[in-house]
Amino acid sequence: MTRNTKVLLIEDDRSIATGLQKAMRGSGYDVAVQTRGDTGLRHALAEAYDIVITDLRLPGTDGLELVRQLHQAKPKLPIILITAHGSTETAIEATRWGAFDYLPKPFDVEELLELVGKALDSSRLMSEPIEMGDAVSARTAIVGNSRVMQSIYKEIGRVAATPVTVLIRGDTGTGKELIARAIYQHSNRAAAPFIAINCAAIPETLLESELFGHERGAFTGADTRRIGRFEQAHGGTIFLDEIGDMSVRLQAKLLRELQEKTIQRVGGKEPVPVDVRIIAATHRDLEAAIRERLFREDLFYRLSVVTLSLPPLAERAEDIPDMVRYFLRRYAPEIGVASPAISPEAIAYLQSQPWPGNVRELENATRKALLLARDYTIGVDLLREVVAKTRQPLAASQQTHAAYITELMDAVERGETHNAFARMLADLEPELYAQAIRRAQGNLTRAAQWLGVTRLKMREKLKEFGLHPRRETSGD
Ligand SMILES: Nc1ncnc2c1ncn2[C@@H]1O[C@H](COP(=O)(O)OP(=O)(O)OP(=O)(O)O)[C@@H](O)[C@H]1O
Ligand SMILES: [Mg+2]
Repeated sequence: MTRNTKVLLIEDDRSIATGLQKAMRGSGYDVAVQTRGDTGLRHALAEAYDIVITDLRLPGTDGLELVRQLHQAKPKLPIILITAHGSTETAIEATRWGAFDYLPKPFDVEELLELVGKALDSSRLMSEPIEMGDAVSARTAIVGNSRVMQSIYKEIGRVAATPVTVLIRGDTGTGKELIARAIYQHSNRAAAPFIAINCAAIPETLLESELFGHERGAFTGADTRRIGRFEQAHGGTIFLDEIGDMSVRLQAKLLRELQEKTIQRVGGKEPVPVDVRIIAATHRDLEAAIRERLFREDLFYRLSVVTLSLPPLAERAEDIPDMVRYFLRRYAPEIGVASPAISPEAIAYLQSQPWPGNVRELENATRKALLLARDYTIGVDLLREVVAKTRQPLAASQQTHAAYITELMDAVERGETHNAFARMLADLEPELYAQAIRRAQGNLTRAAQWLGVTRLKMREKLKEFGLHPRRETSGD
């Protein structure tokens, strides 16, 4: 059903090429090799590869020129450069021309695989089509036909056509990222890159050079120049997720970009012109943050030219039946259920719930229920159990481990659980295995390595949780 990821490797050193090809095949990729820059470029242009990995020094066309031409023709195709000693400067130049990243030789295959994974994730964000409304068939969709969602769709249409900055607001799990991607896909920049950055996930100093880049020697450890995401996204769209978590100092730099359309690399003197459309999102109460001087008011006005506010799921409960059917359809194949079923009472029960974790929580609950019910109809009793379980421990990703343990220990004290350790494992394990096998693209060996368990154990656990690796490596 899902085809293998297609990789084009352009490398003139045959022994390196063969080694990498073998290792990547072992991880489930389809790898084609080209040994010249010019023929490599031709293949990359003519065929539908998911990612290109190229050496820098090549006969025919060199890597830098290859990146320039390929990125111009296929701006969404991720390109990773591998560079020999002494050519880092050129590789950095290539990231300005749109290469995703570079890897200096010598490197472990694992490092390359990790970078490839990252690049593919980011290209999936820009390429996976998102449908909207009720009659959705795409793998990824914004489901819901409530009045408020209809007005959101209209807004998406309206703002997509213009380059205005959009601020998306809403509680955790309400669909902010999905909306950001939809705006991008419907915009006249849809052919250019979309780069998402989670401002809450990166420490301040790193975030600054991630966004704006730095010059060599800008700070200890900055031994090469770095091109920031703003420059890389030139002509495209940047999604600043969790903008409410950005430091006031960085907010000032961002404001400057918005006002002057230039950025300054850390340690750089020259302003660099950039043309980037910004979409920002936050679950935070920015008005309160402004009062507490944690958020700049001027930036707030710049950002919120257009604001889309996503209501909590409980306020659009009429969308729940469509959403549930969509999630069932979406997860059935990977769980291995042919025709998932749910009773009308069960749907009514879901509609009556408060959903503090919003759509994400509903999605998790539906998926878990399907995992347990398999070919049987999902009923109210099962859901009640699943919802109670998912709510406390893992539903809200923000929930800290301490809070989880507190809940667990409360349950122990109330006498609801006798074996806290086993319960913790039971709560966490399925998600761990599910993510490992998904991220490893179905590759058992790799997923098992990641988790530090044997392949046999991996296989057993997948069976236990009803998870089906989409594809296994040869020899399995
Ligand atoms: N209207 C919807 N229809 C279908 N799926 C949805 C919808 N809204 C959200 N989802 C799904 O719910 C999950 C959470 O959505 P998303 O990541 O966009 O939320 P968010 O608002 O960015 O959350 P957070 O604040 O936690 O980052 C995703 O798996 C997304 O696909
Ligand atoms: Mg989000």
